[in-house]
Amino acid sequence: MTELFAPAIRARKVRNGAERLVMVTAYDAPSARAADAAGVDLILVGDSVAMAVLGYDDTLQVTVGDMAHHVAAVARTAPAAHVVADLPWMSYHVSPADTVRNAARLIRSGAQSVKLEGGRKRLPMIERICDAEIPVMGHIGLTPQSVNAMGGFKVQGRTAEAARRLVQAAKSLTHAGCYAIVLEGVPVQVAELVTDAVEIPTIGIGAGPGCDGQVLVFQDLLGFEQRLAPKFVRRYADLHAAATEALRRFAGDVRSGAFPSPQESYQLPASEAAELGVVDL
Ligand code: KIV
Repeated sequence: MTELFAPAIRARKVRNGAERLVMVTAYDAPSARAADAAGVDLILVGDSVAMAVLGYDDTLQVTVGDMAHHVAAVARTAPAAHVVADLPWMSYHVSPADTVRNAARLIRSGAQSVKLEGGRKRLPMIERICDAEIPVMGHIGLTPQSVNAMGGFKVQGRTAEAARRLVQAAKSLTHAGCYAIVLEGVPVQVAELVTDAVEIPTIGIGAGPGCDGQVLVFQDLLGFEQRLAPKFVRRYADLHAAATEALRRFAGDVRSGAFPSPQESYQLPASEAAELGVVDL
């Protein structure tokens, strides 16, 4: 169980001497155990599960029920890392009561905080969730749940005016009670301006090195995802190739009869085999 709660994360500002925050997504028990064993600070059960695991083309298809299912799988491993759960699209857009209920469901599934996307429009909902004693992480810049409104997964904040709006949004999120902000898909200089402007840590993805932390999607950084290769992803392994090669060897061994061996099979005791008149392997 984690001892890293939102107030401690809130204090992790690099300019105040803190170490950079490390966040990675995980959606199930094996990936959560691997992330925790590696010593990451935060595990994000992201709605990117839709694209990374469930085969959808965007993140709009997952529901609160889907997220609760994945949060519970991660939480059952009792990681030392802080578990933050994404509120999916339409779970915080309709009414404050539904928003708080949905956030509470993810907390009851085992998360220690929730994340939601958007700037000033989201302030009333953020305040209501914080009023229910649930810590909130913000997420601005390229917000994947806005893919249709943005006209694709496009880098944001590319004009001085748009950059100023992001700085204002980050300040508003801080004022509303967020303990950290994900900055996605913005120019390096804009990420630095935002990071300088707020008292809470920024965690970047496709936002350059000037943030207070970094996050990547598990499948991207381990090379499980072969189809998409965003510029900001660094692949630390090629597990797709390693898994495919292992499965190819398994298929060959099954077809040739080399698997399973006697050592990989259960044997009858010799006396029972003799009574049945079968060969003792
Ligand atoms: O769902 C997700 O993986 C995210 C990250 C891109 C920050 O929100």
